[in-house]
Amino acid sequence: MLIAFEGIDGSGKSTQAAMLVKWLEAAPGREVVFSKEPTGGPWGTKLRQSFVTKRLSPDEELQCFVNDRREHVAQLLGPALARGAIVVIDRYYYSTVAYQGARGLDPAGVLKLNESFAPRPRAVFLVDLEPQVALDRISARAGGRDLLENLDEQLKVREAFLELARTQGNFVLIDGRQSVDQMHAQIVGEMKRLL
Ligand code: ADP
Ligand code: TYD
Repeated sequence: MLIAFEGIDGSGKSTQAAMLVKWLEAAPGREVVFSKEPTGGPWGTKLRQSFVTKRLSPDEELQCFVNDRREHVAQLLGPALARGAIVVIDRYYYSTVAYQGARGLDPAGVLKLNESFAPRPRAVFLVDLEPQVALDRISARAGGRDLLENLDEQLKVREAFLELARTQGNFVLIDGRQSVDQMHAQIVGEMKRLL
């Protein structure tokens, strides 16, 4: 079973993904695998560098994220799912739809390209939060970035995620204004239904 966490930067999804992994690991006899995208592989490293130096063109960015994901699926996600593990992933191809879509690429085309090779998650927990609140949370981390430009992008990305939640049957919307424990309880409630 593949479970994905999505949301804008600073929404609280990594916190929730880590808590879900801990909760899943508490039950004996179950293999739980955690991973994230972009990965630490060559394509992911190139992408992360581009975020702090010079951003790639939207098409180049799409290509790098897809290359990174192809490797991730072949080397880690595919084999873990084949073994019957529960795989929890922090960001997946819906981030490509939302972020590269926000840069002008066709969301439906990006979705189709990814679903041609990447396994579809059983559930996607979308942690939704107003971009200004998310930016305040990560202001220390956002450091030298142009915050206005960032806010504008995050607004578009949030809307793209909400559109996916409306159209994709596997999305579960989590209100990111809740406390860490409230969100976790909602996610655990949903997982109990799925397991
Ligand atoms: P993301 O992975 O979406 O970027 P994180 O889980 O790293 O977000 O959280 C971003 C920041 O917000 C961290 O400093 C984290 O401690 C804090 N945070 C996470 N969840 C909440 C919450 N429910 N309420 C307030 N702050 C939170
Ligand atoms: P990363 O260094 O992993 O940051 P974080 O720990 O905050 O998630 O970089 C993730 C960034 O990459 C984030 O801003 C979202 C973006 N991204 C895309 O634009 N497209 C994608 O397909 C993915 C997976 C991430």
